[in-house]
Amino acid sequence: MQISQRISTITGGGSDGWEVFYRARAMKASGVPVTELTIGEHDVRTHPDILNAMHAAAMGGHTGYAIVPGIMALREAVAARVQAQSGVPTTYKHVIITPGGQAALFAAHMALCDPGDTALYLDPYYATYPGTLRGAGAVARAIQIHAKDGFQPHARDIAAAAPGAKTLLINSPNNPTGVVYSRATLQGIADVCVQNDLWLISDEVYDTQIWEGSHISPRALPGMAERTLVVGSMSKSHAMTGSRIGWIIAPPDVIVHLTNLATHTNYGVAGFIQDAALFALHQGASLEAEIAAPFRRRRDLSLRILAKQNVVHAVPAQGAMYIMLDIRATGLSGQDFANQLLDTHHIAVMPGESFGTAAAGHIRVAMTIADNAYEQALRQVVRFAGEIATP
Ligand SMILES: Cc1ncc(COP(=O)(O)O)c(C=O)c1O
Repeated sequence: MQISQRISTITGGGSDGWEVFYRARAMKASGVPVTELTIGEHDVRTHPDILNAMHAAAMGGHTGYAIVPGIMALREAVAARVQAQSGVPTTYKHVIITPGGQAALFAAHMALCDPGDTALYLDPYYATYPGTLRGAGAVARAIQIHAKDGFQPHARDIAAAAPGAKTLLINSPNNPTGVVYSRATLQGIADVCVQNDLWLISDEVYDTQIWEGSHISPRALPGMAERTLVVGSMSKSHAMTGSRIGWIIAPPDVIVHLTNLATHTNYGVAGFIQDAALFALHQGASLEAEIAAPFRRRRDLSLRILAKQNVVHAVPAQGAMYIMLDIRATGLSGQDFANQLLDTHHIAVMPGESFGTAAAGHIRVAMTIADNAYEQALRQVVRFAGEIATP
């Protein structure tokens, strides 16, 4: 008996890039104290007030089937948030609530790509991207972004890949690089989309974590609202990773199709989770700022530590909960550096190679542990790099 090509090729075969992470977890399980700077999860849990709202909603009976595209009050709250941030007129008709950003990424590609259509994405990329695109039946095609450009995508590289493609997936603030795309970068991307009649899927799940510049949604650029699907999530903005709650913003006719897709796949999101999400959004920007604050602090701390040496160079750390470090001066690949760091100092970071080929010779450090421990660990990473570079 055979299972489908679509599912069996989802990981692309070979390595999934998470070996260092799995090895770190195995070491921890065997009793070795490993400092994990790997996955993008906060060191705080979901706020107790949000949990109380969730509990009250569930106890109040909101445990039956919820309406598929999302409860009206939440769709309206998301639309208001998006309109306030982007300036683009947005109503509940532009919004579908999804079980997290990941499900939104998959649904967006399912909605736009027929089997065999080319779906473009940028390398370095969030680890699930190629599999998500393949899972939706598309031919996933990576476009290389360059370290020498500070990992800002170049319109000419996208234009070269665009003819015949159906969609382009971008992500700013970016995981893994921490780069925030400038207005010029986004305008260049928008121009390529218009010229080549591409749909743009804009993954904005880190939109509350901006340390330099400002978050610009490409949906707000001229001519883009009708060809852009924005993926949003409360995982990072509200420390609600386990609640699985996010959304897609799209033209209303696309939302109708996405609702049909949801009816035949996940049948929407639990009502008590949606009520908790609504409560969380009603807390406004202050709660979002509170949740983002530790990453800003640790990012500033990182830059202070890195300023004192010249072996390890930070990729412009403009947003998100990661800092990407160029360790090419050590002569090691990101993979070898991460493995040796884990073996010798019991610190786990993600090799740049886990996120494609463009970030080879880099490591991604998740700023997701308490400040003191983070400071010690980063100092150790930098010392280790220095020792290798000048033995
Ligand atoms: C760039 C990016 N997009 C989407 C997601 C998915 O987030 P979630 O499904 O938790 O909303 C993540 C999670 O780490 C991410 O880093």
